[in-house]
Amino acid sequence: MGPTALCIGALVIISITHWVYRWRNPRCNGKLPPGSMGLLLLGETLQFFAPNTSSDIPPFIKKRRERYGPIFRTSLVGRPVIVSTDPDLSYFIFQQEGQLFQSWYPDTFTEIFGRQNVGSMHGFMYKYLKGMVLNLFGPESLKKMIPEVEGEVCRNLKRWSNQHTVELKDATASMIFDLTAKKLISYDSEKSSENLRKNFVAFIQGLISFPLNIPGTAYHKCLKGRKKAMRMLKNMLEERRANPRKHQVDFFDYVLEELVKENTILTEAIALDLMFVLLFASFETTSLALTLATKFLSDHPLVLMELTEEHEAILRTRENSNSGLTWKEYKSMTFTFQFINETVRLANIVPGIFRKALREVKFNGYTIPAGWAVMVCPPAVHLNPDKYKDPLDFNPWRWKGMELNGASKHFMAFGGGMRFCVGTEFTKVQMAVFLHCLVTKHKWQAIRGGDIVRTPGLQFPNGFHIQISEKKNKQQEATSNSILSNSDYAQASHLYG
Ligand code: HEM
Ligand SMILES: *[C@@H]1O[C@H](CO)[C@@H](O)[C@H](O)[C@H]1NC(C)=O
Ligand SMILES: *[C@@H]1O[C@H](CO)[C@@H](O)[C@H](O)[C@H]1NC(C)=O
Repeated sequence: MGPTALCIGALVIISITHWVYRWRNPRCNGKLPPGSMGLLLLGETLQFFAPNTSSDIPPFIKKRRERYGPIFRTSLVGRPVIVSTDPDLSYFIFQQEGQLFQSWYPDTFTEIFGRQNVGSMHGFMYKYLKGMVLNLFGPESLKKMIPEVEGEVCRNLKRWSNQHTVELKDATASMIFDLTAKKLISYDSEKSSENLRKNFVAFIQGLISFPLNIPGTAYHKCLKGRKKAMRMLKNMLEERRANPRKHQVDFFDYVLEELVKENTILTEAIALDLMFVLLFASFETTSLALTLATKFLSDHPLVLMELTEEHEAILRTRENSNSGLTWKEYKSMTFTFQFINETVRLANIVPGIFRKALREVKFNGYTIPAGWAVMVCPPAVHLNPDKYKDPLDFNPWRWKGMELNGASKHFMAFGGGMRFCVGTEFTKVQMAVFLHCLVTKHKWQAIRGGDIVRTPGLQFPNGFHIQISEKKNKQQEATSNSILSNSDYAQASHLYG
């Protein structure tokens, strides 16, 4: 072996050693939070995504918090990340949006969602799009939507009660998708030849997968699903352009009107990306929340009783019990909102909220280097025993008299600060209306499934199969059960709510 080869060999070894050293000890102008950067390149990605059946703080977070404290460093999907389980730092991160921190999601997410989605957009364009979306899902639109939502939900529940059993996660996802797609783009799944939702399902199944784009992989199917869905959306937009409507009714009308304006910053590509994100953001999250809510009701008869009482009282105080839900009635559902808060607190549907440090940030003696990713960890906040007594217990009554504001340090199921979820109220409307129809008109029984897995996002690997049937109204029930004594009847109606 010549001296040159030896020299090169030594150089290679030195640079690899240096690389490994730098991987383990990243450069920083101050004190980095403690933690481990894991394996070269892979970091601790695999541990982070390891499935677990517990509803507690993910073991990945819990173990490291015990070892290193509430703020620690790690490496996920090829990026150095600071994890925050500290309520003050998390709050600070939300408040500093656009100044010290900026929304950031892993590159695979950007690839999948399109480069111009709301999540990764900043500044002026962002505010403009947000205004547009808020307009669509703001209180004025939602007020008008209540009868629509009620009609759709009741129709679906009735249909499910004619089936032997129904898998609730899929059924609610389909229902919410149809509702949102109808609202956004007037898409009617029954009249359309192509199935838009099918493409979204393929998309979601590969969303959190290894980003290897070759035929056969989940990631490949995911990208293909997105491509097909985008093509459908584009065709629909074209069709609308060819047949414009007089009055602006849905998002397409709005977009087309904006696109012809002079000096508009909106492009068709941006509008379609946004469309896709909205459809995705709405049906997956809300259907998980509804499925978990129904499971909680099955497991907690006292909660079911109080919820049923609240909704039957609404019907009783009406002149005509069939007159349909009003906005005022919706706003009066005190216990329902406590129930929804408790459900999303424990659901932890979004297990991590990502940001990027725009500049070097000092906090509590630690330094977060510029360019590093930061992950706020909602489960750590929602399962904090100092703020929520017996945090793993499902207890909607704990919310009684809790006067928290939307951007509270101790509740971030819908995020916080400037990026607070624009769909929050829309979700609540859908959940409240669903619960209303469910408990006043139906009874149900869990058949199988309902077990959860977190990867770390919430999943129902075996679905949640229930048997659902229509409640007879009280009078019918009383006559058909006339052989029962009064006390039996009282007991029966007690059981069924
Ligand atoms: C249970 C249901 C839902 C949960 C738990 C949820 C959760 C969240 C969270 C945690 C964020 C903040 C993300 C961040 O800060 O990076 C967020 C943002 C967002 N959500 Fe939701 N969401 C739900 C329903 C919806 C619905 C129904 C829609 C559609 C109308 C929606 C649309 C959005 C959008 C567009 C953003 C981005 C807002 C922005 O970046 O300013 N979400 N959501
Ligand atoms: C979940 O995490 C706990 C705590 O780290 C661990 O003991 C358990 O084996 C994990 N696995 C599953 C499948 O729940
Ligand atoms: C639910 O949580 C939000 C956010 O913390 C809060 O503003 C609201 O008052 C809570 N609702 C109830 C009924 O406790």
